[in-house]
Amino acid sequence: MIAVAILAAGRGTRMKSSLPKVLHPLGGRSIVEHVLAGLAELDPVRRLVIVGYEADRVKQTLSSQSDLEFVYQTEQLGTGHAVQQVIPYLQEFEGDLLVLNGDVPLLRPTTLHQLVHVHQHQGNAATILTAYLPDPKGYGRVFCDGQNRVTQIVEDRDCTPAQKQNRRVNAGIYCFRWSALAEVLPQLQATNTQQEYYLTDTVSDLQPVMAVDVEDYQEILGINDRKQLATAYQILQDRIKDDWMKAGVTLIDPDSITIDPTVQLSPDVIIEPQTHLRGDTTIRSGCRIGPGTLIENSQIDENVTVLYSVVTDSHAQANTRIGPYTHLRGHVQVGQGCRIGNFVELKNSTVGDRTNVAHLSYLGDATVGDQVNVGAGTITANYDGVRKHRTEIGDRSKTGSNSVLVAPVTLGSDVTVAAGSVVTEDVPADALVIARARQVVKPGWRLQPPPLNR
Ligand code: UD1
Ligand code: CA
Repeated sequence: MIAVAILAAGRGTRMKSSLPKVLHPLGGRSIVEHVLAGLAELDPVRRLVIVGYEADRVKQTLSSQSDLEFVYQTEQLGTGHAVQQVIPYLQEFEGDLLVLNGDVPLLRPTTLHQLVHVHQHQGNAATILTAYLPDPKGYGRVFCDGQNRVTQIVEDRDCTPAQKQNRRVNAGIYCFRWSALAEVLPQLQATNTQQEYYLTDTVSDLQPVMAVDVEDYQEILGINDRKQLATAYQILQDRIKDDWMKAGVTLIDPDSITIDPTVQLSPDVIIEPQTHLRGDTTIRSGCRIGPGTLIENSQIDENVTVLYSVVTDSHAQANTRIGPYTHLRGHVQVGQGCRIGNFVELKNSTVGDRTNVAHLSYLGDATVGDQVNVGAGTITANYDGVRKHRTEIGDRSKTGSNSVLVAPVTLGSDVTVAAGSVVTEDVPADALVIARARQVVKPGWRLQPPPLNR
């Protein structure tokens, strides 16, 4: 039986931010949400999050997660003090407590699973996740005896020069037999340069304590400043991109592409350079996305191309071509086999199958049928200065170049709008509408030269 405590009460002074450190975004999720995602292969009976600095903001960010218990640490007196706060919550608990630093976001679920497994299998009082770092600066150093039993953990700032040579570091991830930890926690002393209660000091009072090395040391990166945040993002991106390439996605120039962990791709998707895929986005087989494209919270069905465009909160159906320079936003639905072209913005609109909006248009709050041709420069005037209104265009209709459709207005099916029209009234099906001044030609007319003065 396992309970989890996540330490998330600190401010994160070295971030130089008013936002609590654990809420800083890291590829579509906050740091602490990544930590929670690391629990995927465990089935904890309790999940306690220790909050303090900007506690309400942390709670708010995690409000969609069910069954989290928030424990207040009103003064941040150290990691040991933080875990002391859970004692009243776990009075009756008889299992192991997995303690996670809220600022260590890259742990793989298998690593945590393995740590708990070793701990329970060996019957340890505590098991500590460790790694050999090329540059251990800033981390607590872990010292072991000949049998890999941890004797001491010394913080970087408390290390002697000789101790600093030890490259084996504490990841800030521990599994404790709760009954043993609960007994020694109240005895912690703040006798160190920071005058804090260190959780790591409990190891000298517990028997036996074992260290388990993580295979990939990048997993244990702790985020204390913006530089480490950027490094973590890079590591996360490399992982995500490697996984997608293994799954059959082509990434052309991967270093120039970013993909959030929440994005879903299918085999035989091609992602071109300078493309960024964010949020709840799904892209199906045969699509070619980019170069130069941003897609956020959108669904792109099979065989769609999106070139130099921005697509947010929208859905494009199969075999549609989007771009170059298209902006879809605010819940746009584009049907199958459409062409949405150069310098076109669609907002909160539905476009039927095989419809073209090929050049220089704005359609806002519009419902467009199948096989419509929206002529170059067609604009829906959807805003009267106070309210937004809808425009409807029936199947197979054609709007001439530079038409303005003044909403609310409905065009039936098979309507033709003459170029340059300003359509202010509804048009029934099967009609031609011309809404502009008739051309006037005056034969033999010339501009008279002005009379010569004097
Ligand atoms: C800690 C470890 C260090 C380890 C490193 C790994 C201790 C004493 N040191 O150091 O050995 O190598 O993590 O990343 O544990 N927190 C609270 N309440 C507090 C203090 C901290 O909730 O009173 C939280 C912070 O919000 C943070 C986490 O605990 O999420 C770690 O605190 P931090 O100050 O970053 O510890 P380090 O100095 O990095
Ligand atoms: Ca830290």
